[in-house]
Amino acid sequence: MNFAQPLKPLSLSDDRKSLIVLDQRLLPNKELFLELKTKEEIFEAIQSLKVRGAPALGLAAAYGLCVVMSEYTQNPPMDFFRKSERIIYYFESARPTAVNPTITLNRLRSVMISALSVNNISSETILELMYAEASKIEKEESEASGKIGESGLSLLKPGWGVLTHCNAGKLAAPGFGTALSPLYLALERNYGLRIYSTETRPLLQGARLTAYELTKAGADVTLLCDNAAASLMAKGEINAVMTGCDRIAANGDVANKIGTSNLAILASHYKIPFYILGPLSTVDKSAPDGESVVIEERDKREVTEMWFKERVAPEKIKVYNPAFDITKAEMITAIITERGIYRYPYDFSNI
Ligand code: MRU
Repeated sequence: MNFAQPLKPLSLSDDRKSLIVLDQRLLPNKELFLELKTKEEIFEAIQSLKVRGAPALGLAAAYGLCVVMSEYTQNPPMDFFRKSERIIYYFESARPTAVNPTITLNRLRSVMISALSVNNISSETILELMYAEASKIEKEESEASGKIGESGLSLLKPGWGVLTHCNAGKLAAPGFGTALSPLYLALERNYGLRIYSTETRPLLQGARLTAYELTKAGADVTLLCDNAAASLMAKGEINAVMTGCDRIAANGDVANKIGTSNLAILASHYKIPFYILGPLSTVDKSAPDGESVVIEERDKREVTEMWFKERVAPEKIKVYNPAFDITKAEMITAIITERGIYRYPYDFSNI
């Protein structure tokens, strides 16, 4: 069993002048690492889902900013800061639904602002502080993943069937991910879980990524088409649903991969607990509810041409292709974070 095998979606090169990204678009067929240096390359990797998953997006944006700014350490500090502001704005616009890039980039901005108040500070020193902050974020996310795993596992029993959607594992976040973290722990502790992964149309993160990383770890995984979930639940095969999240509104409404709310509604019908797992950094207190979360609309060709290879629908067809949906707070049995298990009605006022 090799559940502990590292599978890192991104890292820094040894000289810290490139962002190394595992191209997730090519999985499961090919493990290819890309070396990204420019802001355009990093933006494109985020937008095209070469790197994806909310915490990984936050880290890609943070490390990406450091990499790009490493070219400007000869500029005066104020000039360095202004330049970084433009890149922050640019990276934030790459994928609007996940809150993580905004959070991580704001943390780097705060580091720069407080550094600017130090007399005679150099841009080089400011950059060092930024790298340190990005690495601190990575460590925090990794620790959060472990704690989410323990809390999540406390909700599961040996032999259960657990359904997950999209990919919220090692490819999406440091450590063991979020929704998959309890499932990795269960594997380590011989729970004998039956894991069910939806394929997650249109971009197949469940089939290409979740099924890939869990089978690589030795888990018992069954892949199903998204529209087979009700049939599986009706047969009594599912004891819990666990998914990740891209943004949690103040009232507990959750934005996550399109199809998440379908599963929550089905789970409620079949009286199956429906859990959302994510770090508290995913809570956006400035969004009162799900309606205030921007939902990313993606290219219609993702639906009509399956990764732009072969047309599966008529040429001029209109397409509805939101990347995420909102699951209402009252449909969620619990939200599992690094600080434990929150239950409805959700109150995140003290985080
Ligand atoms: O479009 P993606 O692949 O970035 O969507 C990812 C998800 O919806 C995940 O469930 C979410 O980001 C949580 S990842 C720990």
